[in-house]
Amino acid sequence: MHIGVPAEIKDAERRVGLTPNSTHELVSQGHEVMIESNAGIGAGFDDEQYRSVGATIAANAEEVFEANEMIVKVKEPQAVERARLRADQTLFTYLHLAPDPAQTKVLIDSGATCIAYETVTDRKGTLPLLAPMSQVAGRLSVQAGATHLEAPNGGRGMLLGGVPGVSPAQVTVIGGGVVGRNAIEMAVGLGADVTVLDRDLGVLERLEERFESRVRTIYSNAATLQEWVCCADLVIGAVLIPGAAAPKLVTKEMIANMRPGSVVVDVAVDQGGCFETTRATTHTEPTYLVDEVVHYCVANMPGAVPRTSTFALNNATLPFTVALANKGPVAAMQADPHLMAGLNVYDGKITDVAVAEALDLTYHDPAALLAA
Ligand SMILES: NC(=O)c1ccc[n+]([C@@H]2O[C@H](COP(=O)([O-])OP(=O)(O)OC[C@H]3O[C@@H](n4cnc5c(N)ncnc54)[C@H](O)[C@@H]3O)[C@@H](O)[C@H]2O)c1
Repeated sequence: MHIGVPAEIKDAERRVGLTPNSTHELVSQGHEVMIESNAGIGAGFDDEQYRSVGATIAANAEEVFEANEMIVKVKEPQAVERARLRADQTLFTYLHLAPDPAQTKVLIDSGATCIAYETVTDRKGTLPLLAPMSQVAGRLSVQAGATHLEAPNGGRGMLLGGVPGVSPAQVTVIGGGVVGRNAIEMAVGLGADVTVLDRDLGVLERLEERFESRVRTIYSNAATLQEWVCCADLVIGAVLIPGAAAPKLVTKEMIANMRPGSVVVDVAVDQGGCFETTRATTHTEPTYLVDEVVHYCVANMPGAVPRTSTFALNNATLPFTVALANKGPVAAMQADPHLMAGLNVYDGKITDVAVAEALDLTYHDPAALLAA
């Protein structure tokens, strides 16, 4: 198969769809890979690294879209990219169509086969192509929190782990899923005093088994949130209710009761955020103050570490990319219902229930469409 990788053009996006190692894997299985010149630079891969594993380098994105059957990306296609898609092409990338009617309409009109990373499933019922970015964001949340607790960055001037004779900082993590667990790994590793709140007792049990007495597990409700937010030096918001906006668990009053210079990192900002005081920020201006509490609410945290994020994403996506290339998209999806769950748009029709519901469009069963 001819596989093309354009450079990402979304604002401040430095990740790339395929690493040189993934390219090598596809080339060694007989496929032709074309990379747009400098597409990998932001993640630390130059054209020569791709050339040396057998890829061809295209001068521009137009050439990549023109010459290839499958386009592998990271972020949803931007307007100029969508306009280049054809009915005979497959697009494999993050799409996030539910809140994006404009993108959805163009993808429907294109007739292309559009497979979204974020809806591919696995045997455990989780989302394996979303998890790596939650791992990255969870680990980064503690780095961001620790940095902003430093006085020159507006914080109360505390070292997360303290030193002998001086107490460590108190870190409260709300939500103990993928983001929360990875945040706890880092906070515990740095010697902080860590508390996690979740309302799933199974999650709390597994965290206690993993971290033993190094983490305090608390059942999440309004009273316990009030208790563990107000006393914290760093609060990390990591809740998710699948398919819904994040619940506003931390009220304005709780924020007002925190000590000046405390820090909150709302990782759930991409779902609207779980603090009443949250508004989305960017890597260029990541923080703002509310009641002297530093708020860090960057909606695309993994973009800060494009090299790690690109490797992590490729580790998860490559088996699916290889299957799509080896079998062809239709046969690959028919052979794997988890990959088929990633199909959002096919032959001008919506094949994802949640996207169809969110945008009030007709849902079509992907298995029936692929069989036709
Ligand atoms: N900002 C970013 O760059 C970025 C990157 C990755 C993920 N995210 C977001 O981070 C959030 C968490 O993602 P995840 O992968 O960890 O999800 P997850 O499903 O693995 O974990 C979410 C956890 O929240 C818990 N929860 C739900 N309601 C709760 C409540 N009332 N109190 C306490 N806990 C509650 C759930 O029980 C679950 O354990 C999501 O909103 C996700 O979109 C953001």
